[in-house]
Amino acid sequence: MKKEQVVNCQFSVWYPIFRIHTIKSDHNTQQTHTNNSNSDAEEDIQWSDDEATATVTAPEFPEFTSKVLEAINALGGHVFPKLNWSAPRDANWIALNSSLQCHSLSDIFLLFKSSDFITHDLTQPFLQCTDQDSPDPVITYELVLRKWSELIPGGEFRCFVKENKLIAISQRDYTQFYQHILMQDGQICQAIQDFFSQHIQYNFLDEDFVFDIYRDSQGRVWLIDLNPFGEVTDSLLFSWEELTSGGEITQHQESPAFRYTKSEVTVQPSPCLSYRIPRDFVDLSTGEDAYKLIDFLKLRKSQQEESDEEDEDDMPQRHGSSET
Ligand SMILES: Nc1ncnc2c1ncn2[C@@H]1O[C@H](COP(=O)(O)OP(=O)(O)O)[C@@H](O)[C@H]1O
Ligand SMILES: [Mg+2]
Repeated sequence: MKKEQVVNCQFSVWYPIFRIHTIKSDHNTQQTHTNNSNSDAEEDIQWSDDEATATVTAPEFPEFTSKVLEAINALGGHVFPKLNWSAPRDANWIALNSSLQCHSLSDIFLLFKSSDFITHDLTQPFLQCTDQDSPDPVITYELVLRKWSELIPGGEFRCFVKENKLIAISQRDYTQFYQHILMQDGQICQAIQDFFSQHIQYNFLDEDFVFDIYRDSQGRVWLIDLNPFGEVTDSLLFSWEELTSGGEITQHQESPAFRYTKSEVTVQPSPCLSYRIPRDFVDLSTGEDAYKLIDFLKLRKSQQEESDEEDEDDMPQRHGSSET
């Protein structure tokens, strides 16, 4: 996998090509500071005499904030957030709704700051590329907001394309058994092949790539994401060795290899479970990461206030009913 393949799989590169086949989205590219110096942040910290405490002024970005809020509104009020490549899938446990559904900028910040996947995008997007000697391409970071869509995990599939040929399809939520996939495997495989040959094949910038699709309850196929063809992308029910080796899957097969979980027996724990007691818990409980703690407490507080307001609204009714 080359650095250029990773560059091509950025949201802002593939979205304009496949816009009509995917979920409505907004991507906000900002000229951000790419140097890693912390000087600005440090100036905002006023160390007090007591070395254990510091007054921290969190930076504010009013223009950016209003742009994001506008986009959230335009997308119906609930969004699914991503960076150039990744969503913070490993951080949903920290959100108050245990979901990646966001309504505000602070929802997005909390998820992003708690996600190792987002950190990967920010710090080492070219980690597993084979052309390490070439200079890293310049990346402009983009906040991607997608209209929230209730996707049923059993409708999600990952498709592997090598030399512009669809060679393999895997159930994406492979730790679960879905009866409907077993019942309709031929139909599903055909629908994906048709979608590929009509809309995807030869339209992308690379001839090797991985695309994710969703087949909705009406049988319509949607593009969800594009990913580099290589180890950074989870090969799910295949192995990268199989997908690249020129063995059974890549050779003499007319239709793609289709793999899905065929019975309850093989059901395994969700792969993201291992992210659930990560650093963030430690950071929050020890106060190690002040910003993260502040975000968390702010959210808690605003939720508390909301529910207090609701309680107040209920008051007259409650008084009138049982108390006396
Ligand atoms: N617009 C959306 N609304 C709700 N859930 C979504 C949306 N897009 C994706 N998802 C869910 O999030 C998962 C990850 O999304 P994806 O864009 O593939 O991110 P990543 O590349 O980080 O895995 C998908 O498998 C799907 O279940
Ligand atoms: Mg992806």
